[in-house]
Amino acid sequence: MLILGIESTCDETAAAVVEDGVRVLSNAIATQFELHEKFRGVVPEIASRAHIENILPVIKKATESAGVTLDQIDAIAVAQRPGLIGSLLIGVTAAKTLAWALGKPLVAVDHVQAHLYSVMLQDSPPPCTQGGGWGEGSSSGAQPTAFANTPSPQPPPGLPGGGVRGIGLVCSGGHTALYLIRNWLDVELVGSTIDDAVGEAYDKVAAMLGLPFPGGPAVDRLAAAGDPKSLDLPRSMLGRDSLDFSFSGLKTAVRYRVFGYQGKERSLADLSGQEIANVAASFQAACVETLIKKIVRAVQQFDAGYVIVGGGVSANSGLRAALNQLNVPVFVPPMKFCTDNAAMIAGLGHVLLVAGQTAGLDLDAVTSSSIPRR
Ligand code: KG4
Ligand code: ZN
Repeated sequence: MLILGIESTCDETAAAVVEDGVRVLSNAIATQFELHEKFRGVVPEIASRAHIENILPVIKKATESAGVTLDQIDAIAVAQRPGLIGSLLIGVTAAKTLAWALGKPLVAVDHVQAHLYSVMLQDSPPPCTQGGGWGEGSSSGAQPTAFANTPSPQPPPGLPGGGVRGIGLVCSGGHTALYLIRNWLDVELVGSTIDDAVGEAYDKVAAMLGLPFPGGPAVDRLAAAGDPKSLDLPRSMLGRDSLDFSFSGLKTAVRYRVFGYQGKERSLADLSGQEIANVAASFQAACVETLIKKIVRAVQQFDAGYVIVGGGVSANSGLRAALNQLNVPVFVPPMKFCTDNAAMIAGLGHVLLVAGQTAGLDLDAVTSSSIPRR
């Protein structure tokens, strides 16, 4: 079964064709980095306008690269929530129009839930050359990076279906939240950030350090050259049993400890290259330690059998290395499926379609996630 996925929740316009929920036949993305870079953040109105220009060429590219025509597509899946309303509307309108014109089913996908599902995706052809997914590719001897610490890759036990439950962490520019996963369609929110998302903190600290937008990858690269112990930064754990996160204090601590206050300010020009790298490394160590401690806490509280980590920050090298040390199976998507993409939308769309969960042409874009709080 072939699903065309469409994603336009934030600043990426993406379309993908996925076969049977797992094999990614194409994964087209138009990024908007250069449009938002000078503002050091996504400007919603600019993003919406760029989506309008990009959406049709991206859909065309996705079908052409997959070598399929729109007639061969079985259903259209669209990221309907959560996200920026103007951005969401472009993808939802395109998907509804295609579904109506082609007479195909329409499936509405929650973007956050799809980030968790992205560990299921495998490149095809050739399988696993980009380090992702399980299946034929894993028997070729290549070790997929999708499995941070699992020697013989298996689909997460209980996913889809089955009994073992897992903990999911979605960490991105807009979200930092923990989920209890029973199967792909039974996911509950068990903790979330009470202020900034971790990716947002990365982007803000990157801006303080004069690094390009989006800041996460730049801080990550620089951190490798710095001393993570050079700056003693707070790790906000909130309550003893809390599964919530807080990153705004960490961001503010970097601001004041590095650049001073009340007449004792320092500017970026006062810092050496090594000092800047030390800040990046110390900030990254604080983020990673916080995320890992909360994952461990959630695994213990729910007696979970595995962990899935998705969203843009799951591309972080420090986080991936730390996940590798956990003594529970950890599943992380290949790099290219960590950040926003439409393959994960098409993949989860397949699961929803098979479960009979289709949407009507009155489908509307929604800014909040549909995942219920436990
Ligand atoms: O999932 P995503 O593409 O979009 C949202 O839904 O937000 O995540 C984007 C976020 C940005 O904040 C970006 O700085 C961060 O993910 N990010 C990283 C890395 N790569 C992307 N953060 C830390 N380390 C990285 N390597
Ligand atoms: Zn995302």
